[in-house]
Amino acid sequence: MKYPKEYLDEIKTRLKVSNIVSKTVNLKKRGKEFIGLSPFKTEKTPSFTVNDEKGFYHCFSTSEHGNIFDFVMKTQNLKFGEAVKYLANIAGMRPYTFSKQDIEREKNWQTYSAIYKKYVEFCHSNLLKNQNLSFAKEYLKNRNLSKEEVEVFKIGFVEKNTNIFEELKKNYNEKFLIETGLFYFDDKKNIYVERFRDRIIFPINNISGDPIALGGRIIEDKNYLAKYINSPETTFFKKGSNLYNLDRARKFSNKIDHIYLVEGYMDVIGLNKNGIENAVANLGTSLTEKQIIILNQFFEDIIICFDGDESGYKAALRAAENSIKELQPEKQISFLFLPNKEDPDSFVNKNGKSYFVNFTKENKISIHQFIFEHYKKQTENNPSSMAIFEKRLREIASTIKDKFIKKYVLEYFLDRISSLTPHTNYKNKKFFTKTAKSLKSTQKHFNDTKSVTQIEIKEFSFLYLILNNLEVFQKNIYLIEKIKLFTDENRLIFEAILSKLKENEKFTINDLQIDAQLIEKIFKFASIKHILNMNKHDHSKIFDLLEEIIRDLKNYELELRIEELESKFSKDLNENTFNEIRELKKLQNLN
Ligand code: CTP
Ligand code: MN
Repeated sequence: MKYPKEYLDEIKTRLKVSNIVSKTVNLKKRGKEFIGLSPFKTEKTPSFTVNDEKGFYHCFSTSEHGNIFDFVMKTQNLKFGEAVKYLANIAGMRPYTFSKQDIEREKNWQTYSAIYKKYVEFCHSNLLKNQNLSFAKEYLKNRNLSKEEVEVFKIGFVEKNTNIFEELKKNYNEKFLIETGLFYFDDKKNIYVERFRDRIIFPINNISGDPIALGGRIIEDKNYLAKYINSPETTFFKKGSNLYNLDRARKFSNKIDHIYLVEGYMDVIGLNKNGIENAVANLGTSLTEKQIIILNQFFEDIIICFDGDESGYKAALRAAENSIKELQPEKQISFLFLPNKEDPDSFVNKNGKSYFVNFTKENKISIHQFIFEHYKKQTENNPSSMAIFEKRLREIASTIKDKFIKKYVLEYFLDRISSLTPHTNYKNKKFFTKTAKSLKSTQKHFNDTKSVTQIEIKEFSFLYLILNNLEVFQKNIYLIEKIKLFTDENRLIFEAILSKLKENEKFTINDLQIDAQLIEKIFKFASIKHILNMNKHDHSKIFDLLEEIIRDLKNYELELRIEELESKFSKDLNENTFNEIRELKKLQNLN
């Protein structure tokens, strides 16, 4: 749903940027502008300026800039729609309403939400106040929870025979009450009963902090009762699109770039109690792609840390195969495996925060590493097993949506497979004697590639593609002749190739008189080599690859230009420069 421009402009005219910003940043007037400490960075000297006339803010130390919508989105982690609602309210405007159905849905939501709020509030204060429930309090205490956690997480208890259904019926109609999933009709007894009776309840909130569902745990483990149950799915609660504690955890994304994703409510709460507040749990189902996308909006690195048992490991593998599809450049998904029989709750309670944090630093592995190591463990030294191994890894790589990540993950898999194949590289015959050192060797692989920059790798791929298809490019020289390379060495090589191509006579690499070491480097680091080798004579694939590389190079050029403009802008705060930056950023997104 798109807001009309007039509505947004109206908000902008009614609200000064300095007004909104000064709710969170202490501003001082200086000339036409205001100045203060950056909300995006801890700093001692103010580098954050606000210009009401121009309608934007700019932060010199992080080069963040934008209008009031950008500001509240960034500082409060709101989505655009939420920012509009929030600001419209301050501006004294009505929330923008859309179609009839939207209005109907909004009304239903208000009722649903009000019922959940009342229910949660009631069970929470009942747990705290009701003497009869001391056994439940005792249980929580034995599980290391103090009153503080009970309050922060609004934990409650549902007694067997409350009259809350009757109470609520005074204000809400039965149909609504049933739709919340809090009650269901017992055919035998012919009455409505509470789904969560006799359970400790953990409210599950939506991203704005309103309760929309519950998780409930029994106190005494009994075989015939499920240890945990959740609210059923409703119009307003979809398991795969929500995460427990996301409403609180996302607030830390300004300061912390990673989030722990754990299995259980108690894991989240245990971590919180120990000072690790950037934790969420998926709700007893397998991790969905949607949940990954949501977390990626706020955090760079998702650290999946499930229970240290077989079912935790299986869940982690499933999560890895599901979430790798959504892997994005700039984002990471990692896995952390705990010692046998521990879950995050027990582990952090035993060892404390700093141990847990260090343990994470030393033991987390990236998603592609995990997948590789997992399938390697299943593989034996015979052609059939090796073939299955490679096939499976290729299949997994092919599910990745982002073209570039797909390319590099496949490259990583194939590179590691080839280093395991004794004939291609006899130095590596270690493969079949499982060693604990495998992770170190992976690190080395990464360090190796780190010594050349990303842009160099792209340029190597570009040159590699041409060098391996000289004839093709001789006929299509127009496709490449305008391309700009950024490193001097590669530019010289490219010029040499171009001028030879233009002579329009058949030639080979050897005729180019390029230093053998340089050629070797290109052949070593060109990230497309496996993909190209698989598609040797497929011209359309060659052109596809070329197109991709050129897009990457152009994006890099854009990036450089944006950096240049940003540093210019930080000096003159000129609106034209600002607009140009905006346009370039749009272009960058389009690419
Ligand atoms: N779960 C569920 N149904 C079950 C068991 C578990 O929905 N019968 C979900 C719950 O969301 C639970 C999570 O899976 O929080 C993790 O399960 P488990 O590891 O068994 O529970 P813990 O969080 O370790 O809970 P506790 O420490 O209370 O035993
Ligand atoms: Mn557990």
